[in-house]
Amino acid sequence: MSRRIIPVADARSLPPRLAADAVRAPTGEVFDALARPLRDLRISVTDRCNFRCVYCMPRAVFDKDYPFLPHSALLSLEEIERLARLFVAQGVTKIRLTGGEPLLRKNLEFLIERLAALRTVDGTPLDLTLTTNGSLLARKARALRDAGLTRVTVSLDALDDTLFRRMNDADFSVADVLGGIEAAQAVGLAPIKVNMVVKHGTNDSEIVPLARHFRGTGVTLRFIEYMDVGATNGWNMAEVLPSADVVARIAEHFALVPLDAHSAAETAQRWGYADGAGEIGTISSVTRAFCGDCTRARLSTEGKLYLCLFASMGYDLRALLRGDATDAGIASAIAQVWQQRGDRYSQLRGSADAPAASEERRIEMSYIGG
Ligand code: GTP
Ligand code: 5AD
Ligand code: SF4
Ligand code: SF4
Repeated sequence: MSRRIIPVADARSLPPRLAADAVRAPTGEVFDALARPLRDLRISVTDRCNFRCVYCMPRAVFDKDYPFLPHSALLSLEEIERLARLFVAQGVTKIRLTGGEPLLRKNLEFLIERLAALRTVDGTPLDLTLTTNGSLLARKARALRDAGLTRVTVSLDALDDTLFRRMNDADFSVADVLGGIEAAQAVGLAPIKVNMVVKHGTNDSEIVPLARHFRGTGVTLRFIEYMDVGATNGWNMAEVLPSADVVARIAEHFALVPLDAHSAAETAQRWGYADGAGEIGTISSVTRAFCGDCTRARLSTEGKLYLCLFASMGYDLRALLRGDATDAGIASAIAQVWQQRGDRYSQLRGSADAPAASEERRIEMSYIGG
């Protein structure tokens, strides 16, 4: 019998007594309790996915009886746009659409058009991107670009077809995903990034083949340390391959040089091929936590605001949207929630200061997106 996992649907409400307005820096920005500004918003547009990646949606748990969110619980595209506008007004400059698999959401192009029309507080367009498994990208790349999407990130965990099918556990082929990446390149959704989750003992044999495949193509391949996110993937430290080992394995074949970060909040460390054939990245949230500069807020499909990928509780913004809250009221609530934020899970993982195991179940990656 598989254990039933109930999606997080707690109703953590907003702080009971909100002040009339949040305390803001002279620039209008809001900072959290660890002095981190609010800059990135990751919006999950569906909790469903057509893949069943073993480290994210194990089939034994996410089966036909799994209680995915009902349609009435989802934020409408108009509601998402309203919230996005209010986040942007407090300093957000980058929005990433995630899932589950975001390309499964109907009329996603409509939302992208609306988001592409938003302007940051400095008056510039947003960095508007999306994380996809690539299976529907060949069909949708042009429409996404036409709607105003600027770039995409595609997940791909192996170049070997048998291994890839085993990892996505839904019979999608490597060719399906490579076709999506090519279509995205052809319509100019650039720069394209490809994310590989490395599970030691499962797909670490694919590190060098994937590096070789994408070298010189303009695509940036990034290696992600397998994380203990959610509560269903049976994570185990022995299955984490430290990024330092990933870099060492690639360097046996192609000389690498470290590159400077684009910004402090960047998740990836950058490495360039010494012969100029492009760059790779390593995302080391287990061996080299990057909470100190984490400027990311996450909005779930049902309108809950989460302050960390490893959170159990979200703040119910949908209740405000569907109540009679004004834009100013919602904006102030968002700012005040952000100001109370002290989350830094990856930094504390395994340390004496780590929060005690909570009664609450941690949110799943498929519920909140990467
Ligand atoms: P770019 O602007 O394209 O570089 O975006 P990004 O670095 O935010 O990358 P992306 O959204 O592709 O994230 C890549 C992976 O990094 C995710 O799938 C997660 O596994 C991990 N990741 C992203 N954000 C966080 C975070 O805030 N905390 C932790 N622990 N991991 C994260
Ligand atoms: N550890 C690291 N990355 C993960 N992803 C999903 N689950 C995990 C995990 N346990 C990645 C996916 C995708 C993004 C949405 O998150 O591979 O790139
Ligand atoms: Fe779907 Fe992405 Fe999770 Fe795989 S990692 S099951 S593609 S949401
Ligand atoms: Fe941000 Fe939480 Fe990830 Fe740390 S663990 S980088 S605080 S989302």
